[in-house]
Order: sequence, then structure tokens, then C-alpha cells
Amino acid sequence: MRVLVIGSGAREHALVLAASHDPAVTALACAPGNAGTAAVAETLGVDLTDPAAIAELAVSWKADLVVIGPEVPLVAGAADAVRAAGVPCFGPSAKAARIEGSKAFAKEVMAAAGVPTARSEVVDNPAHLDAALARFGPTWVVKDDGLAAGKGVVVTDDLERARKHALMLLDGGHPVVLESFLDGPEASLFCLVDGRTVVPLLPAQDFKRVGDGDAGPNTGGMGAYAPLPWAPPNLVDEVVDTIVRPVVDELARRGTPFTGLLYAGLALTSSGPQVIEFNCRFGDPETQAVLALLRSPLAQLLHATATGTLAEQPPLEWADGAAVTVVVAADGYPGRPRTGDVVVGSEAEGVLHAGTRRREDGAVVSSGGRVLSVVGVGPDLTAAREQAYERVGRIHLAGSHHRSDIAARAARGELSIPTR
Ligand code: AMP
Ligand code: GLY
Repeated sequence: MRVLVIGSGAREHALVLAASHDPAVTALACAPGNAGTAAVAETLGVDLTDPAAIAELAVSWKADLVVIGPEVPLVAGAADAVRAAGVPCFGPSAKAARIEGSKAFAKEVMAAAGVPTARSEVVDNPAHLDAALARFGPTWVVKDDGLAAGKGVVVTDDLERARKHALMLLDGGHPVVLESFLDGPEASLFCLVDGRTVVPLLPAQDFKRVGDGDAGPNTGGMGAYAPLPWAPPNLVDEVVDTIVRPVVDELARRGTPFTGLLYAGLALTSSGPQVIEFNCRFGDPETQAVLALLRSPLAQLLHATATGTLAEQPPLEWADGAAVTVVVAADGYPGRPRTGDVVVGSEAEGVLHAGTRRREDGAVVSSGGRVLSVVGVGPDLTAAREQAYERVGRIHLAGSHHRSDIAARAARGELSIPTR
């Protein structure tokens, strides 16, 4: 099987690495890729915002399976274009990808499917903002109704800050979504979905804020771990039954079935799991931790998902133990990151590349905000953390920063779901 992975982050590096271990894979390419994917897969050029170009590449490279990593090409219709060109594609249609591309659409689908989520209102006129804010908070949750890479959300007890953020979004022509605040720890559950059949992966948790102790602004994700030792054993079944399957059925009922990875971002509240958001693709950086534990052949699974045959697959196999990933970010991230710095130690085991490229002289240099995702595995979270941080300690990147507390509270047994 010739597998083409679309994207250039550490998630795509994790996908090509896992696919490279699948005995069914005979050729592997990544477009546009990065310095890390280039060590495992052929590197091809492509414009991620151009569905037709992605489809042409799939045909000319003779791909048997295209795996689309990021949301931007999916929302733009890349999976539709690839399928229309006759190539099996792992990733939802543009219509199904709206579950991530529009928060208002996601809310409407959840309401129709009876799925628990925060109460919400869309505000598109600044004249209606103050009255709407008065119906929420404190705590206020203000979101951009569109793709914002996790950075368009403000969660605050400060009404003035909530107002300012909403006005800024409205000024930019973006409708604003206000939500009720969900208490409880967050979890991410990734499910393979072939339109009908739902196969959950291990649950994970990511760390969205830039600083230790969840200080500072939201980022694309600063680290993650899997599985969740503090979660009740029936959590995954409960989320599939009450959240994922109803949404998959609702999308199928509307004639826009979901094919690919449906990511449920959850708050595990005192009144049960509730949806914070859906994403239409593998999460980054959770994927780096989850796939480190997967023992089943990934490319065969993704091909079965793309071709509607998930129900015929054997149950997933996982390594025992835990995985932790720590993101090494460039100076300035999540603001304007400094790029072009030499990255030393990036070829070591467990080091996945995100914002890197190879300079003409052969050196690996930073080229984005999240530069590396460093993964450790072990019999438990404490051991996995130790390995991840030991590996981070061997990396050198001038001005870089990372969180030192990824999975720390879970490893110490300090997390639990609030009780009523
Ligand atoms: P989102 O872009 O919707 O994933 O939101 C980014 C982050 O904001 C989430 O991971 C949560 O930490 C926080 N957040 C979003 N919505 C809520 C909510 N309704 N209640 C509490 N926290 C939220
Ligand atoms: N880990 C958050 C995301 O992928 O959106």
C-alpha cells in the first residue's frame, strides 16, 4: 500500500512513523512534511489550501491511501477532491468537517443528537453583546465561530476582558459564540469513524496553556499524555454511547456521513462528560502520545476507515503503560515565533518534528512556533514523563521553552472528576 500523508506537523510525523511500522505499507510520502518526516517518508511539495493540487498529487504519486492531517485542507474540501479522483482518503468531506469548521454548526448537530454540551449563543451584532454577556458568567467563555487553532477562545472571570475579546472578534467580522462554563478536567477521545462504525482510541489529555500550572494564553497544545489513569474504566464506552455515536448517526442521517477521525474534546463534569468541541482530524499533540502506544497496523486501520470496512477489523491492540509528549516551542510562541535557529539533538529516538526544515548546509533549523514534540513511554505516567523530559534535556534550541508539568498532576494522582 502506497500511503501519502498530508501535513507538516509532529502529528504527521507520528502518523508516518506509525505507518512505517505497518507491514502492508510499501511506500510512504509526506507533503509538505518537515525535516523529521523526511527521515521516514519521501517529501513532496503541496499547497495545503488547494484541494485540487492535493488530489493531483495523490493521483500522480499513485497513492492507495491519502491521510489528511490538518483541518484546513479538510474544511476546504481536500478529502472530497481526493475521493473524486478515485483515491481512498482518510478524512471527512467538507460538509462533515463543518463539525470543526463552524462551532455554530457543531452546536446545532449536538442539539439534534441530544449530546450534552455547554449552553451557547451566537452573537453577530455588537449591539446585542452586553445583553448576551449578562445571560452568561461568571465565568465567561468567548469563542470565535470558525477555525482558530485553539487560540480564538478566552475563558475569564473578568467581564470587561470577555467584552473586549468579543468586540475584537466582531470588529474583524467574526460571529462570536458565548458558552456556559464547564467544570471538571478535560479529555480528548479520538475515534476512527467510517461513516457508521465507531472505533475509539485511548483517551488522552492535552495542555493548551503556554505555561506551567496552566498560566498564560492558549496555544495549539504544549503537551499531552495517554491513557488517563484517573478516569473511570467505563469512560470511553460512555463517551462513545452518549456523544460520539449519536453525532455520527446524526451526520449520516443528514446525508453527510463522517469518515476519518472524529475528535471529541470533553469536559468531565460533575454531571457527566460534556462536549467542549469536536475536531475533524487527529489532535496535536495528543496523537504523538496515543500512537506511541498503538500496536495495531495503523495504515491498514486508516485504509479500512477510508473504505467503510472498520467493522471487519480485529479489536485494537495497545502497549501496556503510558506515553507522554512534551512540546518544545520557539522563543515568542504562541505570539510571533522566532525561526531559523539551529535545533541540536532532533534526530534522537522519540523526537517528532513540527516546525523544522533542513537548511542547505544540512542543519535542522526551526521554522514554526511548535518546533518539536518529544515523546517518552514507560510502564506508568511517572516513567513516561521521566523518559520524555530526559529526552527534552538533550535538545538544544536557543530561546526555546516547554512546560515542565505535562502529566505531573495525573502522575501524582491529583486529578479526579468533580462530584455533585
Ligand atoms: P476550544 O477552541 O473550543 O477547544 O477551546 C479551547 C479551550 O478553552 C478548551 O480546551 C478549554 O480549556 C477552554 N474552554 C472552551 N470552552 C469551554 C467551556 N465551555 N467551559 C470551560 N472551558 C472551556
Ligand atoms: N490538541 C488540540 C487540537 O489538536 O486541537
